[in-house]
Amino acid sequence: MVELGVSLGSLQMKNPVTVASGTFAAGLEYSDFVDVAKLGAVTTKGVSLHGWEGNDSPRIAETPSGMLNSIGLQNPGVDHLKEVELPWLQGQGASVIVNVSGHSVEEYVAVIEALEDAPVDAYEVNISCPNVDAGGMTFGCIPESASEVTALCRKATSRPLIVKLTPNVTDIAEMARAVEAAGADAISLINTLLGMAIDAKSRRPVLARVVGGLSGPAVKPIALRMVWQCAQAVDIPILGMGGISSGEDAIEFMLAGATAVAVGTANFSDPHATMDVIDGITRYCEEQGVTDVKELIGGLIC
Ligand code: SIN
Repeated sequence: MVELGVSLGSLQMKNPVTVASGTFAAGLEYSDFVDVAKLGAVTTKGVSLHGWEGNDSPRIAETPSGMLNSIGLQNPGVDHLKEVELPWLQGQGASVIVNVSGHSVEEYVAVIEALEDAPVDAYEVNISCPNVDAGGMTFGCIPESASEVTALCRKATSRPLIVKLTPNVTDIAEMARAVEAAGADAISLINTLLGMAIDAKSRRPVLARVVGGLSGPAVKPIALRMVWQCAQAVDIPILGMGGISSGEDAIEFMLAGATAVAVGTANFSDPHATMDVIDGITRYCEEQGVTDVKELIGGLIC
């Protein structure tokens, strides 16, 4: 038997595997394939105070070993999440991380305040979406604004606060230190890398917004590098993600310093991917004589 439980701050997870926000909705659409209660946690799609329409289409493009998205945080708003998705997740017995979005600092705080009486186990503050003109990555690229959002969200809740970082910065460790100092209990990384695709025949961009966020196996080496750099820079736990589709991928992130991992783009091509990752982690531990998965965190031998 392998002990799979891990903690992200005070968030206890039965195993280290969650989903990357925006790749799993709130789980309902995946429930034919996945028992959501078997996940370490379900991380929901980013939610704002009121519904957002998102960006114009096309807003998805397949790329070599990955995909671009420019969804723009489309969501039906926090009331819908509270009335529909959160009760369903509670009924399933799932642990829930809600990804919180805002166009302003005040909106992030208002979303958290609205959720304080709801069955939520942790918040993930999204200061890293590259597909919006206000909020998202615009806050996450500057240490001062990342720190301000984190500090105000910290004041609004005593629940575990995870801050999701963007890789579109020069020094990821500086951003990690800024949000740790402002009260984050954990960081998650990486969100998507800003990229673009061009249709040579039409000479036009593939995405209506021209640029979008790159995810999938193509970004894994960058994500591993950033998780490893952050693990040297901060004492708070790390939720690592970027191109994970197998147990071995997840183990690599844990060796780099992640306490938990999220499966993202893989959910689109294989809706059962999360379960395969959990099984793969267990198998690796059994084969390697690892009795507690926590032994692997930061276990990279350099
Ligand atoms: C989006 O909705 O545009 C993607 C979400 C994100 O990158 O955080």
